Amino acid sequence: MAQVGTEHNPLYVAIVGSGPSGFYAAEALIRSERTVKIDLFERLPVPFGLVRSGVAPDHPKLKQAIQVYEKIAEAPQFNFIGNVSIGRDISVEELARHYHAVIFTCGAESDRKLGIPGENLAGSHTATEFVGWYNGHPDYRDRHFDLSHETAVIIGQGNVAADVGRILSKTVDELRHTDIAGHALEVLAESKIRRIYIVGRRGPAQAKFTSKELKEFGELSVCGAVVEPAELQLNDASRIELEDKTNAGSRKVFELLSEFATSTSRDKQRQCHFTFLKSPVELQGRSRVEKIIFEKNRLQGEPFNQSAVGIGETFELEAGLLFRSIGYRGKSLTGLPFDDKRGVFPNRDGHITDTQGQLLPQFYTAGWIKRGPTGIIGTNRADSVATVECLLQDLARLDSSETKQGAAAVYVILNSKKVRPISFSDWKKIDNEEISRGQPLGKPREKITSIQECLRIVEKSG
Ligand SMILES: Cc1cc2nc3c(=O)[nH]c(=O)nc-3n(C[C@H](O)[C@H](O)[C@H](O)COP(=O)(O)OP(=O)(O)OC[C@H]3O[C@@H](n4cnc5c(N)ncnc54)[C@H](O)[C@@H]3O)c2cc1C
Ligand SMILES: NC(=O)c1ccc[n+]([C@@H]2O[C@H](COP(=O)([O-])OP(=O)(O)OC[C@H]3O[C@@H](n4cnc5c(N)ncnc54)[C@H](OP(=O)(O)O)[C@@H]3O)[C@@H](O)[C@H]2O)c1
Repeated sequence: MAQVGTEHNPLYVAIVGSGPSGFYAAEALIRSERTVKIDLFERLPVPFGLVRSGVAPDHPKLKQAIQVYEKIAEAPQFNFIGNVSIGRDISVEELARHYHAVIFTCGAESDRKLGIPGENLAGSHTATEFVGWYNGHPDYRDRHFDLSHETAVIIGQGNVAADVGRILSKTVDELRHTDIAGHALEVLAESKIRRIYIVGRRGPAQAKFTSKELKEFGELSVCGAVVEPAELQLNDASRIELEDKTNAGSRKVFELLSEFATSTSRDKQRQCHFTFLKSPVELQGRSRVEKIIFEKNRLQGEPFNQSAVGIGETFELEAGLLFRSIGYRGKSLTGLPFDDKRGVFPNRDGHITDTQGQLLPQFYTAGWIKRGPTGIIGTNRADSVATVECLLQDLARLDSSETKQGAAAVYVILNSKKVRPISFSDWKKIDNEEISRGQPLGKPREKITSIQECLRIVEKSG
């Protein structure tokens, strides 16, 4: 039989997850000189992963990556199979049977835990839930956020914390014409929050915001950015970090924080405080969060390797709402090994291994579930290209005598389970409906947040 990846024996590849890494993996396969047939599986009826359900609604330019993904979806080698959850509707073993190779690009859909008493009190939420809720992700549409309190605290100082802080700081008029979910806009309109604290366990030189995101806090209509000048004192190691040629980003962040420390924006209706060197040690409250106890920290270690160490002194904040924005975490999938410590699929250059480091034939990975939950949309492109290169190098080792059926076999299984797969043209019907529902509201789209409703729209339009 002809070599796999040729006209007479095409390479069948399943990709699991339609975020950036899934689409970039498809693009790399399409650009290879092989004859390929790609099925991109997505558990939701709607594609694009965190570009749709993570990127903040008031950052529409960052969603332009979707135009690139739509072009990829036009390629004749590409087929989208939405509304199909791998591990539930189709097993990993079934994918292995019907495809030569499987690339898992299913992101990091869970969260890291603080591991402190009171973490699960009512009023304590993960950033993942809040972001999913305001972005209309079906899993989070029914969540309730009680914004009737005056003080909200966000733990963590990465760009997700910045997104959550900005959404809480903006007025409804600043958000009205974005693609924010209608249910979130209604709740935010009634928000009583006046003080937001974004708390870092390390110092201002180690905050992980990018300067572009931080700068926006100085430009909000009713919310001032506040930093206590005393909090900007640096130890020697942090000074070395900021002077380092390679660290222009943190330098810029520190400059912005210094501007916030001298600005007069404290007079505004709302304030967003940036505070450092504090770790939450307990959330207290009778039936819900009322008070957060922090331990103050000092930094210990060499420049660029400093960690926070508690100094035994505590600090309290009364707050009715807490968001834990301390990083996402991958989920395990039945049939695949999982590195529980890092929350990723163990892999060597994108080729999945067992827990002893032995390569597993056919299985590859890219994106956040390969390397952990860091990096912007563009970071995933090179990452997916590297995984696809690894896969193509292994082609000679694939069994060319075995014919694969790909989607044809999968559709039979789905049919037997009464699962309705969503094609890319089905998605375009949902897309058009969202855009037309947004029009009278002056929004780019009104997202449809119910899976059942997505399916009804597809069925109705035939
Ligand atoms: C809140 C937030 C805001 C962000 N904002 C920006 C930004 O403004 N700019 C920027 O450049 N980067 C931003 N990022 C980072 C960027 O979103 C990520 O780098 C990128 O989305 C990671 O891509 P991925 O494909 O690995 O994962 P994801 O985008 O998470 O995609 C994974 C996909 O897999 C699907 N899936 C999961 N399990 C299964 C399964 N079992 N079967 C089928 N499908 C499955 C999921 O539904 C999802 O669609 C943001 C991240 C977050 C969390
Ligand atoms: N606009 C954008 O471009 C955009 C928007 C959103 C997200 N993103 C990207 O998406 C990725 C994920 O963002 P993220 O904000 O989730 O992660 P992140 O950048 O890794 O930030 C996580 C934050 O949580 C803190 N943290 C972790 N564990 C903690 C603990 N136990 N106690 C207290 N604090 C803790 C970290 O502090 P330490 O530094 O001390 O670990 C850090 O401040 C990033 O690469 C980000 O740039 C980009």
